[in-house]
Amino acid sequence: MAVQLQHAMKPAPTPEDQARQRFVSGLRMFILNDLAGDLRRAYDDRVLPDFRQTHGRDPQTGAEVHKALRQDPAFKTYSALRVNAQKMVWDSVTPVVERERERVGAIADDASQGRVKTEADFTVPRSVSAIDVHFMPGSYTGKGTVEDVTPGAVYDQGLAVFSMGLMGQNLDDIGLSMSRYISRKFPDFRPLRILDLGCTIGHNTLPWKQTYPNAEVIGIDVAGGLLKYGAARASLQGVDVQFQQMNADQLAFPDGHFDLVFSSMFLHELSLKTIGKVFGEIHRVLRPGGLMLHMELPPNTQMGPFEGFYLDWDCYYNVEPFYKAFRDQEPAELCRKAGFSADRYLQFVVPSIGSYGAQAVDDAIAAESHEVNRETTGRLANGIQWFGFGSWKDAAQ
Ligand SMILES: C[S@@+](CC[C@H](N)C(=O)[O-])C[C@H]1O[C@@H](n2cnc3c(N)ncnc32)[C@H](O)[C@@H]1O
Repeated sequence: MAVQLQHAMKPAPTPEDQARQRFVSGLRMFILNDLAGDLRRAYDDRVLPDFRQTHGRDPQTGAEVHKALRQDPAFKTYSALRVNAQKMVWDSVTPVVERERERVGAIADDASQGRVKTEADFTVPRSVSAIDVHFMPGSYTGKGTVEDVTPGAVYDQGLAVFSMGLMGQNLDDIGLSMSRYISRKFPDFRPLRILDLGCTIGHNTLPWKQTYPNAEVIGIDVAGGLLKYGAARASLQGVDVQFQQMNADQLAFPDGHFDLVFSSMFLHELSLKTIGKVFGEIHRVLRPGGLMLHMELPPNTQMGPFEGFYLDWDCYYNVEPFYKAFRDQEPAELCRKAGFSADRYLQFVVPSIGSYGAQAVDDAIAAESHEVNRETTGRLANGIQWFGFGSWKDAAQ
């Protein structure tokens, strides 16, 4: 159900707003759990047997699954409702944000002081500015100036509705799960400089500071208004993180500066060309022995055709144009191409800390059971588990 945010910029929704937001979260829960189950049954009971009869074999790819499923009523119901529910997410928060624009703007002006660097003439890449990414009105930058924190408020409240409680009250489940995993799995690794790429409002950046209190933590993004909102949000939550407007494909940091470079849910919104540049930059700014870590959607190369297609749905229907091309890559190969040694690659599946508890993360480390091809891996539905991959940079010779 829709989460009530806990920080001081949290909105003051009317009972009507709350009912609307809870309804949309509930609708998404129904679609992503119940209707997703119907979709799977339609595939197993109708679509797969028909495909086998016609082709004398099983579908080999997600694209074949998509083509075969497209005419099935279960797919049409699922997709039509999911597209509309996505638009309703934003519709359910926009009136609240508009009503509270001045109050939140004033708090953000004050609380973000000294914590954020933005640039008035910054060039936002067209991959962000030219489309309304996942139907978010005005995309990440909105239509106002860099001083306008409205997109931050829309994103914060929208994600609270969208995530149905699965990302926790501060929307930081990914950061909490990932940072616990890394700190417990590699207790001797104690990063002192941490960078989060494409951090949006910093909700998954803050857990790194909470996990490694001695570290200097910086979040970057191309959308200045989001960063200003995120800087205020961090300050009001009492977490000391800095934010800078910057393109991840051209990092304004010296070589070897960071111990850990992290991103979450970021790469799938970049073209393959940009991912190549970003990985090159990460390799450059990491110190020898440092860690690059990405939380992302699991790759098609490690999933069955149905599971792969299920995640690629967003590429076809949710204004996520780069999603499938990214998911078609082998993550280890992306790392290798950027100069990371093949034997320094790491990947894992970590249980969501909010859904399963901290002990489950520790148990996952002990069990080393990281099977990717599961319905819970990367799917925002009950029982979600997060996929992580990355690489250690070779130590100095
Ligand atoms: C899906 S959001 C990331 C969400 C967030 N990291 C999380 O954990 O939920 C993608 C973010 O990447 C930013 N972005 C897109 N292209 C970028 C680039 N080239 N450099 C830096 N940030 C970028 C967008 O503005 C957006 O805030």
